[in-house]
Amino acid sequence: LRNKYLGQIEAATDEAALENVRIAALGKKGEISLQMRELGKMSPEERQVAGPALNALKADLNDALAGQKQRLSDTALENRLAGEWADVSLSPRPAHQGTLHPISKVTEEVMAIFAELGFGVAEGPQIENDWYNFDSLNIPPEHPSRQEMDTFYMSLPEGANRPPHVLRTHTSPVQVRHLEAHGAPCRIIAPGRVYRADYDQTHTPMFHQVEGLAIDTDISMANLKWTLEEFCRVFFEIDDIELRFRASHFPFTEPSAEVDIRCSWEGGQLKIGEGDDWLEILGSGMVHPQVLTNAGIDPKVYQGFAFGMGIDRITMLKYGIPDLRAFFDSDLRWLRHYGFSA
Ligand code: PHE
Repeated sequence: LRNKYLGQIEAATDEAALENVRIAALGKKGEISLQMRELGKMSPEERQVAGPALNALKADLNDALAGQKQRLSDTALENRLAGEWADVSLSPRPAHQGTLHPISKVTEEVMAIFAELGFGVAEGPQIENDWYNFDSLNIPPEHPSRQEMDTFYMSLPEGANRPPHVLRTHTSPVQVRHLEAHGAPCRIIAPGRVYRADYDQTHTPMFHQVEGLAIDTDISMANLKWTLEEFCRVFFEIDDIELRFRASHFPFTEPSAEVDIRCSWEGGQLKIGEGDDWLEILGSGMVHPQVLTNAGIDPKVYQGFAFGMGIDRITMLKYGIPDLRAFFDSDLRWLRHYGFSA
């Protein structure tokens, strides 16, 4: 009996099998339990021999069961550790990493360069009202530039008794908002999204501008010119960068100038600093006295310059990307090619 059960215990390969052996031997109806019950029917002499023998057998089997149980759980643990083994010296598997969109990268660069020149950063809402997007900037309701801007108007809830809001057509409203809130003197840039219903190789309905505004008591057009040239030198990393200041008109600046940069489009490739083409990158001028007045600044004391530069345009130029529309196609292959690691 002893050998039979000790053998079975040793042969048990998992806890369930072990438990079956225990029940067969020591369970309520187990073979040994039944024999214990037989002790009552024996003569005292017989019982004196069989009793201690059975008790010893029972104790031995219990020991053997406990021992085997421990061995089984040790092996289970060893197997688990072996299965979960990790080689920490292996090189990591390549994971797909996101990249910075060229526009984000360039916006950061622009902010950093102007920070060196002493310009802080301001922001304004993308959904603007008529006053900030137009009137405060000296663009009255019947002014032709309201039509020229291809404005997106927000639809009004039924019965609304107010002029509709617009998606801002430029970052210039931030000029007035910032001066109202912080007064003069000031030196800020305001990067952000702007919207116009327009679509071709160099125009998308949503694009990015960075507004610049410098207001103080002794600012002239010469400061504007130096600031823009200095910015372009650093940004494009070209020492003798060629800018073309073209006389222009904006209702909110007087005088006004548009600025182009020399480039070539040869063979579908856009290259900066060479060739006979010019790409317009910004509008600028001396802030109109009426705009200062609208922002609560006294134009007899203060004057200054402003500019609005196309971030997408300067990104195309810097990285030789000929079609603006690719910026917003969300083509992962394009984004991986032109993207920057964070
Ligand atoms: N807001 C003008 C535009 O979007 C650019 C501009 C800004 C011109 C500031 C002059 C001064 O075209």
